[in-house]
Amino acid sequence: MKARRRPQAARRQVLGTLAALAAAPLLPLRSSARAATPAATVERSLVAAPASVRLVPEPHPATRVWAYGGQVPGPALRVRQGDRLRVQVDNRLGEPTTVHWHGIRLPNAMDGVPGLTQPPIAPGERFVYEFALPDAGTFFYHPHLRSHEQLARGLAGALIVEEREPIAVDRDEVWVLGDWRLDGDASIRGGFGAFMDASHDGRVGNTVTVNGRVRETFAVRSGERVRLRLINAASARIFALGFSGHAPRVVALDGQPVEPHEPDGGVVMLAPAQRADVVIDMLGPPGSRHLVRDGFYRRREYRLLDIVYTDQAPLRTRALDAPIRLPANPLAEPDLAHAQRHEIVLRGGMMGDMSALPRGKAWALNGKATGCGDGAAMFDPLLIFRRGSSHVLRLVNDTAWHHPMHWHGHAFRVISRNDRATLRREWLDTVLLAPNESAEIAFVADNPGDWMFHCHVLDHQASGMAACLRVL
Ligand code: C2O
Ligand code: CU
Repeated sequence: MKARRRPQAARRQVLGTLAALAAAPLLPLRSSARAATPAATVERSLVAAPASVRLVPEPHPATRVWAYGGQVPGPALRVRQGDRLRVQVDNRLGEPTTVHWHGIRLPNAMDGVPGLTQPPIAPGERFVYEFALPDAGTFFYHPHLRSHEQLARGLAGALIVEEREPIAVDRDEVWVLGDWRLDGDASIRGGFGAFMDASHDGRVGNTVTVNGRVRETFAVRSGERVRLRLINAASARIFALGFSGHAPRVVALDGQPVEPHEPDGGVVMLAPAQRADVVIDMLGPPGSRHLVRDGFYRRREYRLLDIVYTDQAPLRTRALDAPIRLPANPLAEPDLAHAQRHEIVLRGGMMGDMSALPRGKAWALNGKATGCGDGAAMFDPLLIFRRGSSHVLRLVNDTAWHHPMHWHGHAFRVISRNDRATLRREWLDTVLLAPNESAEIAFVADNPGDWMFHCHVLDHQASGMAACLRVL
């Protein structure tokens, strides 16, 4: 049986390759054996539907969720840089949805923002997304319609774009971090969009999962080098992960390579939608156990899980001697000397300016409290950029709350915080602003279209902290 099927699969792949070449006649022939691996079109399908999964262990019952492919998180999509991804999305939820490919620099029409880049996918309907993957890195996908509820009910999954020449590690692992507000019977508590959540720090939950489960342990072998891809898929919770007995080195943020470094205090910070790739050499002795804790919220520190070493003999006794720096992605470098400057001021929330309240909103960007896409009416872009031009955008958080601000379709360098130059000028797609903090981000507006710019605390987004920025 298997022998009969194989040639078929191979033939399909060859046909896909020919189609790809036909579409790009100007691609030069490549010479090296490795680079000669052709770009493929990877086809996947996702069905969004209610499902039942076990988030918390027995004796708790299973939880009714909304899921992609019946699982939480949704299936991890793994592709290679330069590939095309074609995903058929079937909506079997009781309400419309869309899928947004967070952090991917794709054509505007594939960005998944209802009312802005596409109509909503009605229940029973289908939409096919197709786009190329210019950047390697750790990304994720999630709905962009009523996302403060759809994401919190379980709709999110990892999208991993592998480098054509990856760094040497023994294992490449993904931790999708989820946060749930559950009742005692493990069911998801209702009350989405509550003003109390929207005007404070969002719908922070009471149950944290790693890859869809409350976990006790993560098993490792002594001596191995693990690349851990951390994805914060929570709708509001911020993580500050400490790995006792280990020294994680951050090699990428939001999918984009960064100068490898040990984070401040050894703690990996992840705001909603942020990702971090860390390399950890597991140098503890066989049989040992080490705490991974999340200490972001004061007096609410908890154990995420324990790293548990198997009894196997060490794979090696010292850290693997191999480089961990990732190859750069093809991002355009902003021309700071000639960049245009802009400012966006974040206001609102409890203990802040509540002038948007009469319009039923808790937050505003430059005084405007609207939803751009995400089921709300469109409005004029807050800023308009000419394609190919460089910009420095100063973000001022004039509130008492944290806000991870995300811009679609682009990556940007964080060049300063509170008027001090950043050490690494990291590329991000989601920048966390602490209360009263300001930051400057710099970018080339090189992807035409209307792109959402919003807070990724999803209750904040739904409550006015959203805009769109146009690239002409
Ligand atoms: Cu993760 Cu507007 O999205
Ligand atoms: Cu916010």
